[in-house]
Amino acid sequence: PTPVIIDCDTGVDDALALLFAVRHPGIDLRAVTCVAGNTDVDGVVRNTLTVLEQAGAPEIPVGRGAARPLIEPARAAKHVHGADGMGDLGLPAPRRTASELDAVSLLRREILAAPRPVTLVPTAPLTNIALLLRTHPEVTRNIERIVFMGGAVATGNATPVAEFNVWHDPEAAAILLTAGVPITMYGLDVFMQVVVPAPDVHRLRTSGDPGTRLAGELLAHRPTAVGEEPEAEEAGGLGDAGAVCAVADPAGLTTRLLPVEVALAPGRSRGQTIVDRRPRPGESEIHEGAREQAWVDVALEVDVERYVKLYLETVARP
Ligand code: BDR
Ligand code: CA
Repeated sequence: PTPVIIDCDTGVDDALALLFAVRHPGIDLRAVTCVAGNTDVDGVVRNTLTVLEQAGAPEIPVGRGAARPLIEPARAAKHVHGADGMGDLGLPAPRRTASELDAVSLLRREILAAPRPVTLVPTAPLTNIALLLRTHPEVTRNIERIVFMGGAVATGNATPVAEFNVWHDPEAAAILLTAGVPITMYGLDVFMQVVVPAPDVHRLRTSGDPGTRLAGELLAHRPTAVGEEPEAEEAGGLGDAGAVCAVADPAGLTTRLLPVEVALAPGRSRGQTIVDRRPRPGESEIHEGAREQAWVDVALEVDVERYVKLYLETVARP
């Protein structure tokens, strides 16, 4: 199995990603690190510990990370993820606490100790990852790839042009992009597409297994209802979990290697990922002079049916 570490802000869809990673036989989830995003970092730690317990994986180490972005104050997305950051489902409190190691130290230890190069999957603002790369740049020698959920080629969500994870800490995202390791950007363009149909969600919700049932509850909470029928309300997007599907089954994703830059200037475009899709990408450098170009495998298309099937099969495993 591929050694994987998820850095998240659990988070309804981050929880869906954790449930999938724990149960996929091709993934060896070695640690989970937490950062402020959807809710405050202590809420994220609590939610993450609870989800791992419900998924039957209480032994995976969880590291508490940054409580706020590098420069700006934290801005939680409680309107999307509920007051507790997890859809207010009334989940039990976790039985254990986070690792004694902070997120950056845990990331460093687990990356360097892994038997094979690690795939890092950030599904949250990139603050922890930026701090890791700046503090312990030697970790890149044992990172296979970073597959991050964030950014958008087209439309944003936090603003018309900026996706939440990048918008919440744009400087951190800019540091990630120039990490010097292969990067896949699983942006909003594909993120929004992978929706589990209502009957499948219903089936998960009525399962006897607590982890499977939780996946159903979380999906039903995802505010992605489409269609007129009342059952359509149960349909839910995989969200962040799609980025982990992309690690388990990269062939379900169509990517193209393109230059990506984060807009950092104050104003309406701050946090936008500027993806150069011109026929000869990067050509402006001829005019703009030398600047650090980040070439990223940008997800442009996703095989929705394939990832929905993969997700359902995986979370229904005991
Ligand atoms: C991202 O923002 C968060 O609210 C979700 O968990 C996801 O990671 C989508 O923009
Ligand atoms: Ca997230």
